[in-house]
Amino acid sequence: MRKPFIAGNWKMNKTVAEALELVNAVKGPLADYPGVTQAVCTPFTALAAVSEALKGSTVKVGAQNMYWEDSGAYTGEVSPVMLKELVDYVIIGHSERRAYFGETDETVNKKIKAALAHGLKPIVAVGESLEQNQAGETEAFVSGQVKAGFEGITAEQAKGIVVAYEPIWAIGTGLAATPEDANRIIGQVVRATLATIYGDAVAQAMIIQYGGSMKPSNVKELMEQPEIDGGLIGGASLKAEDFITLVRVSAEVRGL
Ligand code: 13P
Repeated sequence: MRKPFIAGNWKMNKTVAEALELVNAVKGPLADYPGVTQAVCTPFTALAAVSEALKGSTVKVGAQNMYWEDSGAYTGEVSPVMLKELVDYVIIGHSERRAYFGETDETVNKKIKAALAHGLKPIVAVGESLEQNQAGETEAFVSGQVKAGFEGITAEQAKGIVVAYEPIWAIGTGLAATPEDANRIIGQVVRATLATIYGDAVAQAMIIQYGGSMKPSNVKELMEQPEIDGGLIGGASLKAEDFITLVRVSAEVRGL
């Protein structure tokens, strides 16, 4: 059975002091749910303090982006060598980075390879826009993003990669995809595409999250879907009580 994975993507939120307040509030309660992989992906500025505060807890730490070179004259960038002292996970290819910061399938692919080379676990985000969704292009577009992102990555490496299917129209809007639609795209598009590249056994073992307005009021119905292995959570990960609820309900739904 795939282990469910609930990860918070804090985006550009929380000072170091606020970050510590949040993780110190969640780490005790979350220790009751070791059957769910748990992570918080904080801003770079909070990573050192948060990773120290979460040592010995069940909560892992992730970054939200990185550059693909190890070091050099890349003002403002952060490398995998720097991150691996602090984090287990790194989100790559979030739609906000694709939309506002020039991320492309090609840079996503380079970043995935660099993360893997340094032992970081990528959480690779894919998902279609509202226009693509309405034009019936979701399947082709998302499948294309998966193929391009995983170009040149071996089956052995792929097993350690998490994919987050995040329809852009559902992010931050309060309107999640229906559980059935999210399940269908994850199973019949994301996992099916991975199966064409790596075979069924590898694809069946990979963790694929849903992201986009996942919150306490809809987590149960989303997690009841067999293809949805967890969530990448924005807004609801910023409140201790909500984040704990997401992990607790995920554990309950899966009998963990
Ligand atoms: P929301 O949960 O705020 O919709 O954000 C989802 C997301 O983008 C997580 O990466």
